[in-house]
Amino acid sequence: MLSKKWIFVSLLISGVVLISVGLVGLFSQINPFDFPDDFGGGIIDRGGRELPIPVLLADENEDENIADYRIIAKQGQSNFYKDVLTPTLGYNGSFLGPVIKVRRGELVNMHVQNDLSDTTSVHWHGLEVGGLSDGGPHQVILPGEVWQPSFVIDQPASTLWFHPHVIGSTATQVYYGLAGLLLIEDEFSDSLNIPKDYGVNDIPLIIQDRSFRRDGSFDYSLNMMDGVVGDTILVNGAITPTLTVNQVNMRFRILNGANASNFNLELSNRDDFYQIASDGGFLEKPVKRDRLFISPGERAEIIVDFSVYKEGDVIVLRSGNRRIMSFVVGKKIEDTTEIPETLVKVEPLDVSKVTAIKTIELDGMGHMVSLNGRQFDMDRIDDNVQQGAIEIWEITTLRTMMGGMGHPFHIHGTQFQVLSRNGKEPSEGEKGFKDTVFVGAGETVRIIVQFKHKGIFMYHCHILEHEEAGMMGQLEVE
Ligand code: C2O
Ligand code: CU
Ligand code: CU
Repeated sequence: MLSKKWIFVSLLISGVVLISVGLVGLFSQINPFDFPDDFGGGIIDRGGRELPIPVLLADENEDENIADYRIIAKQGQSNFYKDVLTPTLGYNGSFLGPVIKVRRGELVNMHVQNDLSDTTSVHWHGLEVGGLSDGGPHQVILPGEVWQPSFVIDQPASTLWFHPHVIGSTATQVYYGLAGLLLIEDEFSDSLNIPKDYGVNDIPLIIQDRSFRRDGSFDYSLNMMDGVVGDTILVNGAITPTLTVNQVNMRFRILNGANASNFNLELSNRDDFYQIASDGGFLEKPVKRDRLFISPGERAEIIVDFSVYKEGDVIVLRSGNRRIMSFVVGKKIEDTTEIPETLVKVEPLDVSKVTAIKTIELDGMGHMVSLNGRQFDMDRIDDNVQQGAIEIWEITTLRTMMGGMGHPFHIHGTQFQVLSRNGKEPSEGEKGFKDTVFVGAGETVRIIVQFKHKGIFMYHCHILEHEEAGMMGQLEVE
């Protein structure tokens, strides 16, 4: 007969076993790279397609200093897999959108039409414009309506992007395909002798992850820790595609367009490449590196020198054990571009002019998230700022018993600078302008930020499911 003591001990043991099995399960979900590479859900043709290059949207205005761009958010169907149609959303097409290229100083009139059956909005992520043009949750576009903001581009050459930002459906609308790139050019980007022939040696890479059901439809389902992660990589809307590159310098404008996954990009041969830009524009000088960590919402531009390889070489761009895409090396041709010693001057924001130091605490995971201990409320302004003010924001995330997780923190309508990460100088790649910064578990990142434009602006975690679960606040610049 079992004594009470033995019953107690065995209950204790099975409890411990159950808890550790649970913990292992949780930890294995923390690592978003953990998916087997050949997971295909029984669907054939996982990729190898040639990388699609999003088209440059035509400017409908002949005046050199004024641009008119028209985008239409609509439903469509996409062929990610041979003979299978996936219901998707896109701007002017069935998935993702065209590239909008503008110049500093230009007056831009946007015409955004909503042909969806749902409300949407289009937020210009990284663009320094007034609150009414921002395209956040306050600028909804009802089905059938057109939203027409106008603004003057007044910030350096950079790779920005646009995506919906409507309460309750940002994450799903982005997941189904609503996202596009907004490129700014200026006299400095004109004068640098870097690759800048769009679609030839200047290539956008919109990296996202998705899951598919057997019938080809997207499987948008929530991972309890991280938000929605997928087992299949899309680049510019094609599954792990291939790009044939000549033996020249190639510039890639990389956007982490995933809802929740981080990518830690490297070349399969571990060779170095050069980072030339972060979210808000060029760095002071190219940064030689063999890895590029990029969290949701962030952009980075890199140059890879393919002249050191020979025809037929295949180099895979990967993140951990996830294959992102492949480069097939082509011909040796003449290349007049270079990787310059220096790029632009990045003027540091003046620390002596700082009028406030604020703290932002990002906490939680899954649905249980908060920002400074509370959740987003559309009717509450969390913070008031004077137009032109320069502030220091100290952003922290908690390390919990289970490790906690990192959050990509983003502020609308401004480009900031990273002052320190955990009390230390930021890495070279983080010394340019940024609008989104990754704050790892237990980390503290100090940024200096200036609010140049009036209006209401969001700041939030760019894991879209966290943003939707309330890890967002709003500030009013007056
Ligand atoms: Cu990419 Cu609130 O934005
Ligand atoms: Cu934004
Ligand atoms: Cu988050």
